[in-house]
Amino acid sequence: MNILLTGGAGFIGTHTCVELVAAGHDVIVVDNYVNSQPEALRRVEELCGRKIPAYTFPYAGHHAADLCEHGGGDECRLRRLCRGQKKE
Ligand SMILES: NC(=O)c1ccc[n+]([C@@H]2O[C@H](COP(=O)([O-])OP(=O)(O)OC[C@H]3O[C@@H](n4cnc5c(N)ncnc54)[C@H](O)[C@@H]3O)[C@@H](O)[C@H]2O)c1
Repeated sequence: MNILLTGGAGFIGTHTCVELVAAGHDVIVVDNYVNSQPEALRRVEELCGRKIPAYTFPYAGHHAADLCEHGGGDECRLRRLCRGQKKE
């Protein structure tokens, strides 16, 4: 299943990401890094042994969860909605 994980670079998000990937899901992370670092996702990628697509959400006053309404699990739409991949 494709899963959009908001706050995926945070404490709960990183652990959730590892478990979801281990369970066979494809995870796309959205995080504005207000309380985390892209480095956390690099560690997740090491643990998972694969790249994790990650995007920031640039619209002040909106929550990343708004992407669920506007972008869903469609990565192409997410690319248009978000600023781009932060950690590459
Ligand atoms: N080592 C530990 O035991 C440890 C470490 C950290 C936190 N905690 C605990 O975990 C809990 C908090 O964990 P958490 O995962 O809920 O919080 P978190 O702050 O770690 O993660 C939230 C994530 O959401 C992101 N975020 C916030 N607002 C956003 C927005 N508008 N758009 C996109 N991204 C956004 C943040 O950058 C962060 O990466 C607390 O109870 C804390 O005490 C424990």
